[in-house]
Amino acid sequence: MIIRILGSAAGGGFPQWNCNCRNCAGVRAGTLRARPRTQSSIALSADGAQWLLCNASPDIHRQIAAALPLDPRGPLRNSPVAATLLVDGQIDHALGLLLMREHRAPLQIWTTPAVHSDLTGALPILPILEHYAGVDWRAIPGDGQPFSVPAIPGITIRAVAVPGKPGPYSPHRHQPRPGDNIALIFRADGSGRQLLYAPGLAAVDGEFAALLAASDCVLVDGTCFHDDDLIRIGASMKTARDMGHLPQAGAGGMIEVLGNLPPTVRRILTHINNTNPILDEDSDERAQLDRAGIEVAYDGMEIAL
Ligand code: MLT
Ligand code: MN
Ligand code: ZN
Repeated sequence: MIIRILGSAAGGGFPQWNCNCRNCAGVRAGTLRARPRTQSSIALSADGAQWLLCNASPDIHRQIAAALPLDPRGPLRNSPVAATLLVDGQIDHALGLLLMREHRAPLQIWTTPAVHSDLTGALPILPILEHYAGVDWRAIPGDGQPFSVPAIPGITIRAVAVPGKPGPYSPHRHQPRPGDNIALIFRADGSGRQLLYAPGLAAVDGEFAALLAASDCVLVDGTCFHDDDLIRIGASMKTARDMGHLPQAGAGGMIEVLGNLPPTVRRILTHINNTNPILDEDSDERAQLDRAGIEVAYDGMEIAL
């Protein structure tokens, strides 16, 4: 199984269009050792021919253009992206669906029923797509039941509801439902190796920790370093946890969670907010991750399992 990180930033990307924080200003000016990043998305394939897109970010066109295996092949209008699966209905994960409207057949889109209700109601992306390519919606089975996407042979998937929040536009923002946010476990049928992908994760309980420990690689929420990253720089009054993201530092934080995993598990952070100090490769915070054996995803990174 090949996993390609198409975008490793949280909503807004890095640098963010209207942001003059130390990171965004530094990467724009070329004075900070940091890579620009597009918004959160990955693509997976078992055979290198058919690809599953996991999250459709507003940067989807740039991301496809930057990934050779995703170039169109064969007939006039065609794409190796055979299906799209969403972990939530947030803008940074769903808006790209509208930008795939030229597809030659209805877009095969997998979401939970909770996300489907947001994307047909408060943010009606799916009804709008009906006026273009059309939508072939498939419900992601709940309760960790294994399923597979027929167009992507060789990968077995399980979805697990995780604590988090639906988008700020959702009528359920303050009363989250199971299925607003999921983690996905992808198992390569050939090697038996598995990836756990959870770009939005508010908390980790014992059951979820066991799923992390049973994975060969975990690609998890790296939005904020401190719970109050955004408050410290005056960007927002909200903590990372208020927004549904477990910060890296502090008691019960992601560094501690990942530190409890068996040494064989590869650990990588993704969905990194542009304000997170770990984006500066010379920062103390980045050095802390290095010492803990935690990698930071970048656009174009590939993982083979
Ligand atoms: C989030 O996950 O909280 C977001 O990245 C929000 C957004 O898309 O603006
Ligand atoms: Mn997000
Ligand atoms: Zn910024």
